[in-house]
Amino acid sequence: MTSNSQTLSPQISIEADLNATKVHFPQEEMETKDPLNGGQLPPTIFIIFGASGDLTKRKLVPALYNLALSQHLSKDFAVIGVDYVEMSTEDFRLKINRDIHELSSRQIDSGLQDWLLQRLHYISGDFRSTQTFDKLKECLNQLDVAHGVRGNYLYYMATSPMFFSEIVNFLAGKGLVSQSDGCFRRVIFEKPFGHDLPSAQVLNRQLCTVLSEDQIYRIDHYLGKETVQNILVFRFANGIFEPVWNRRYIDHVQITVAETLGVEHRGTYYEKAGALRDMVSNHLLQLLSFVAMEPPNAFDAEAVRDEKVKVLRAILPMEADEITRSTVAGQYGPGTIAGHPALAYQSEPNVTSGSHTETFAALKLFIESWRWGGVPFYLRTGKRLPRRVTEIVIQFKAAPLLLFRKTPVHQLTPNQLIIRIQPDEGISLNFGAKIPGPSVQVGTVDMDFQYGKYFGDTPRTGYETLLHDCMAGDATLFQRSDAVEVGWHVVDPILEVWGGLQSQATHQYEAGTWGPYESARLLEQDGRKWRNPA
Ligand code: BG6
Repeated sequence: MTSNSQTLSPQISIEADLNATKVHFPQEEMETKDPLNGGQLPPTIFIIFGASGDLTKRKLVPALYNLALSQHLSKDFAVIGVDYVEMSTEDFRLKINRDIHELSSRQIDSGLQDWLLQRLHYISGDFRSTQTFDKLKECLNQLDVAHGVRGNYLYYMATSPMFFSEIVNFLAGKGLVSQSDGCFRRVIFEKPFGHDLPSAQVLNRQLCTVLSEDQIYRIDHYLGKETVQNILVFRFANGIFEPVWNRRYIDHVQITVAETLGVEHRGTYYEKAGALRDMVSNHLLQLLSFVAMEPPNAFDAEAVRDEKVKVLRAILPMEADEITRSTVAGQYGPGTIAGHPALAYQSEPNVTSGSHTETFAALKLFIESWRWGGVPFYLRTGKRLPRRVTEIVIQFKAAPLLLFRKTPVHQLTPNQLIIRIQPDEGISLNFGAKIPGPSVQVGTVDMDFQYGKYFGDTPRTGYETLLHDCMAGDATLFQRSDAVEVGWHVVDPILEVWGGLQSQATHQYEAGTWGPYESARLLEQDGRKWRNPA
């Protein structure tokens, strides 16, 4: 609910021992002016499972701060962090305070920061113990009254997926997910959502025993990126693109998600995941669905998600021999990134020597639909590549050369529309132009739109929109169960073939290069070339 009221919310302090939880109203805090004008989002308690981890520090708390800064967050708001790590609420606040200063490159609004810190609470406990949930229930009851939240709880599962169903079952057992009297109870799940189709189906079934689909928000943080959302606006709010957005005019599409980072400290997780599970089954297929979907008949969750699923379902299944021809797995060896030596994947912490896990994946997919039949979609992602860049290249068919037969022009470069998702968000269109001079010479020029230049740079983590939408009850940017399952449908057969081939499937590449030679060959054999941004 949006309110312009300036009424102060009581400030609360909850002591480490929740049995001794008490609410008090410090006088000087009561007299401090509330830095929020009310916000547009409903009153909410945001509960983070896994609150001492990196995600809370790097994304969730900064996103909440940004939502408060932009006056979106309700002034009736509180956060409860839950985790194994022993910490008092005071320690948690101090930690978050340090994190905010460590991470922010901008001036922090100290009034707003204090406002947020005073709303943070912490419960230490085992996710597998009923006592943790008793403490949580008690804390929720207290904060609900103190902040006038009216029972709206948003849970965030920033934990290992092995805890998802258990936590949700405990919550259900304590009556903490039932929605009554108009309140909402929603749960956000971080990826990975299963590690293959059967496990994703089991997880979906387990969650659906205690939650309804409209309470489940499966997050894919790529959908929180402004430029990803802009794909829909770009395609459907402009009359000039839709008529050419099909197999008649488009030669092929490239989607590249390149990272310079290696696996860092995530070797244990990554050994079991690999690039296909970690990036393709979710982020890259989400990007593909935005590029290739049919226009939805409304900008609402079901209409948009229906179209996305339809396009993913139309991806042509491949037999094993087609998979070996159309996909490439790679693993980085030692090399150099930006002048610094980089270790081989197999020398990273918690990675088995002799591991076949792929840190690079490239694939060619076809979407068997009237719009896209015969148009290849080339997808690639990798760690330890030369540049951090996420971009989509729409390459149009080349113009016929006939007109130029009596000129020095022997080749026309096809037009490319490049959608840059990160880091330099924008869109550019390459086209041929006459090079000034007496003879006809064609050069390629760029029409370039840069997001930051037009709309300014606002501090964003990519989680603001997602958290906002979840509190507002808009699931458009979240994955429905069928989309998750169809993603696994696409990657499972590839994983199976690669698993059978073991070391023969995984080609080594030098860190700091654009992946193994086989990736370049995947396009070269079709007479095409990756666009490798300089
Ligand atoms: C995560 C993957 O989902 O996305 C990571 O698990 C990857 O391995 C990250 O590094 C990339 O996200 P971004 O937003 O930095 O492109």
